[in-house]
Amino acid sequence: MRRITVFDTTLRDGEQSPGVNLLPVEKREIAAHLEEMGVDVIEAGFPNSSAGDFEAVHRIAVGMTTATVAALARTKDDDIVRAAAALEGARHPRIHVFTSSSAVHLQYMLRKSEDEVIEQSIAAVRLARRYVDDVEFSGQDAMRSDPALVQRLLEAAIDAGATVVNVPDTVGYATPDEFGALIRHIRGTVRGIEKVRVSVHCHNDLGLATANTLAGLLAGADQAEVAVNGIGERAGNTALEEVAMVIATRGAALGLETGLRTEVIGPVSRLVSRLTGMPVQPNKAIVGRNAFEHESGIHQDGVLKERTTYEIMRPEDVGVSPNTLVLGKHSGRHALRVHLQALGYTLDEAAQEDLFRRFKDLTDRKKEVTDDDVRALAEDGLLGVDDAFALESFHVSSIGGGLATAMVTIRRAPGESVREAAVGDGPVDAICQALSRATGISGTLLQYALHSVSEGSDAQGEVSCQVRVGDRVVGGHGVSTDVLEASALSYLAALNRAQRWMAQATITEVG
Ligand code: KIV
Ligand code: ZN
Repeated sequence: MRRITVFDTTLRDGEQSPGVNLLPVEKREIAAHLEEMGVDVIEAGFPNSSAGDFEAVHRIAVGMTTATVAALARTKDDDIVRAAAALEGARHPRIHVFTSSSAVHLQYMLRKSEDEVIEQSIAAVRLARRYVDDVEFSGQDAMRSDPALVQRLLEAAIDAGATVVNVPDTVGYATPDEFGALIRHIRGTVRGIEKVRVSVHCHNDLGLATANTLAGLLAGADQAEVAVNGIGERAGNTALEEVAMVIATRGAALGLETGLRTEVIGPVSRLVSRLTGMPVQPNKAIVGRNAFEHESGIHQDGVLKERTTYEIMRPEDVGVSPNTLVLGKHSGRHALRVHLQALGYTLDEAAQEDLFRRFKDLTDRKKEVTDDDVRALAEDGLLGVDDAFALESFHVSSIGGGLATAMVTIRRAPGESVREAAVGDGPVDAICQALSRATGISGTLLQYALHSVSEGSDAQGEVSCQVRVGDRVVGGHGVSTDVLEASALSYLAALNRAQRWMAQATITEVG
């Protein structure tokens, strides 16, 4: 069995998804889950791109114990120096230097000759090696590049001290045969390739990212670059959960293995979805809500008789336990704590108490509380970040013909209550406008998705939204049995996030 290195880029390439802006504290939380899952390398960000990215990379660098932490840098001195500074204190630091190798990138983006790109790359890798022992080198758009240039570039990077060479299919253009052939060609021709690890980085523009990654691994690549829920530029990156479960399920046939604890996949997927405001499509492989559902009578009958008739993986192997009825109105603190532990959540006393209060509130509104309800409650309060605004109460009335009015009361730290009202085109619009007035932050709702956490018309509604505030897009998430309250919570969560970004920008400017 060949052990594959899993390199997760959720926090860097994943964060380049349209509308995704994670705060350093949120990135740190995701990184902790990734390390718990056994991810080998966490690409934490691009430190020279913003003060927030620098801070996030640094927090993660000093916080991880087993995982390597990678920071991205162009072949520019500034980028490399900044990446090295952000990685200071990391137990296993890696600088990831990238350039481009396709003719179209060289001509229109870099405006450099092949020789210039090679010279710059050599200098950049050498500089990075002065700071860290582990340097990854990537030439973007390798799939559409002249293989002769890819070969020269990788040889130059290896001679300059790169320890990993990455082969990106930046625009998701490859087919599995072609991509496998490219990796085989690189393995067979690049001088010094046996001294380094070969990595693959595939995008999903044609829906082939996982197939191409697998073809690359089977052709001799050692490292797979992936992102949770497949998020990333445009159609995204190769999904971590897909590569993990292909190898976990078919590893014997493929001769491949990873060091991942796959049961952490479900919790990480939900965390990323919640913090990015990007819901997972229901039929998404492994982590979609329907991935382990059996609808037709024949399938249900088969699974009841013998699970393996229609299931190739067990839901519990990916951290998706069956949604059972667990608690009710009379359940106490102890029962809730036991269930939380069984679901894999360990909360401190204060968080536990807060969750119990919200749980009791839920049992007043909903007769039967399921695992999914408990999960939604637990994950909603997971980060424990002090928000600037909290929803105290709201009232909405729909007048018909689309017109609605909303009155909201929010608590602004430290304890001041503010009440505002607005008329809107429907209840959600009215709520958003009233909340914007109360917080003093105006936003444009770009995306809004509502789905039910469990079955029944009394189920909790879960709202994910993306809101533009100034030139930044922030995500929000809210859960309640009242879908309008969930909408208000979700929009307010986005405004809280925007407020934190603004506060951070002020601190950076002052400092
Ligand atoms: O897609 C790509 O080429 C990248 C590189 C920075 C590796 O993300
Ligand atoms: Zn990429």
